[in-house]
Amino acid sequence: MQSVETPIAPEKMPRHVAIIMDGNGRWAKERGLPRSMGHRQGVLALRPVIEQSIRWGVPYLTLFAFSTENWARPKEEVGALMGLIEEFFYREVEELRSQGVRIRILGELSALPERPRRLVERAVELTEPNRRLTLSLALNYGGRAELARAARLLAQEAVEGKLRAEDIDEAALAKRLYTAELPDVDLLIRTAGELRISNFLLFQSAYAEFVALPCRWPDFDEQQYAQALRQYGARQRRFGGLEARERQ
Ligand code: IPE
Ligand code: IPE
Ligand code: MG
Repeated sequence: MQSVETPIAPEKMPRHVAIIMDGNGRWAKERGLPRSMGHRQGVLALRPVIEQSIRWGVPYLTLFAFSTENWARPKEEVGALMGLIEEFFYREVEELRSQGVRIRILGELSALPERPRRLVERAVELTEPNRRLTLSLALNYGGRAELARAARLLAQEAVEGKLRAEDIDEAALAKRLYTAELPDVDLLIRTAGELRISNFLLFQSAYAEFVALPCRWPDFDEQQYAQALRQYGARQRRFGGLEARERQ
């Protein structure tokens, strides 16, 4: 395979990058356009970040596309977002499949309108054997809802006698999250400058490095991605312990 230069040393590259894709509305407003145009432009930013992740050898990419709280937006905006989700899966699934992308969904799909839901389910099925990049899309996802669901699943198994209370540990909980097969988040990027987590991957981001970039999501490109990676590469991760040189 052709070697590709990564923005930081390959051994320092994160395994799991998660992105809160924010600022579509502001991107549109700054141009005197309706918010839905910002979302449309935001969808166009997806392909480069997916392809770049493949090229740089990031095996897990997770994107926050629609939160459980986003239903509170005006009906037209929610409708536009659902339409774009449908369009994205309809248009892109073949290409993604041929690139070796496995698509997974984090969140409660059953609440989505039927057309986008069906296309999403089909995309998950079609790309299941792929392993080059695992692309998880958080759709109707909320970190608290996910934790409550995991607690419900554990309680159900306990009631059925399949699990004892004393067997419930961090790993048992992690296994009941939508992210069961994914590693913890290494790098959490948020665009549009906001410094909050907005109910995204609360459990999985426990030790993620947070990088906030001012650029609006539709402007997120290879340079922005590389910049986030360089910030990540310069950090010392400690996981509550000490660095090797501090330990002496
Ligand atoms: C992110 O952009 C996309 C979704 C939340 C679906 P926003 O729509 O939140 O954009 P801003 O924050 O209003 O600029
Ligand atoms: C988080 O962005 C959700 C997504 C990017 C899908 P929001 O724009 O909904 O978050 P808040 O409301 O600014 O916290
Ligand atoms: Mg926002």
